[in-house]
Amino acid sequence: MKFKRIFLMTLISTLLASAGLAFAQFKKPEDAIKYRQSALTVMANSFGKIGAVVKGEAPFNKDEVAKNAAVVATLSTLPWQAFGPGTEGGNALPAVWTDNAKFKSASEKMQLAVVDLNKAAQSGDLENIKKAFGAAGASCKGCHDDFKKK
Ligand code: HEC
Repeated sequence: MKFKRIFLMTLISTLLASAGLAFAQFKKPEDAIKYRQSALTVMANSFGKIGAVVKGEAPFNKDEVAKNAAVVATLSTLPWQAFGPGTEGGNALPAVWTDNAKFKSASEKMQLAVVDLNKAAQSGDLENIKKAFGAAGASCKGCHDDFKKK
């Protein structure tokens, strides 16, 4: 548990420090990889909590879903700045850099889907949340199929 807390604090300070420097150059490619993987991990955690509600595995609590959707919406904007030139690696496929226009458009599609999910979540309508969650999930998968190692 202690390890987990230290990990989380490090992660949060990394995120806060980096978020303040949007489009900052990373000192080393590993820093960019760590940044994007961290942002994606935290985003996926909140996304997964909404997924559990959508699948009926967790009770529907409007406020919790709204909070998680807001986190997803904010974090969905962060990873992309860390896929700059020279940051090849991690589990990203080379196509991220060789077909960067397609990658960018996949990231924009996902951010729009997540804005819709956040709107549905703030309104608290479970049917709309389910629909928007499905579309957002498809946008994750679409990009992973083309740009992430299996
Ligand atoms: C535009 C493309 C794109 C979209 C959209 C996208 N991802 Fe990813 N994702 C990637 C790539 C590329 C990696 C590998 C990054 C790396 O290892 O450097 C990744 C990695 C991840 C990881 C692993 C992070 C780690 O610690 O290694 C998670 C979790 C994840 N994505 C969740 C999601 C979820 C959830 C969504 C949708 C809400 C999503 N992603 C949308 C491209 C995308």
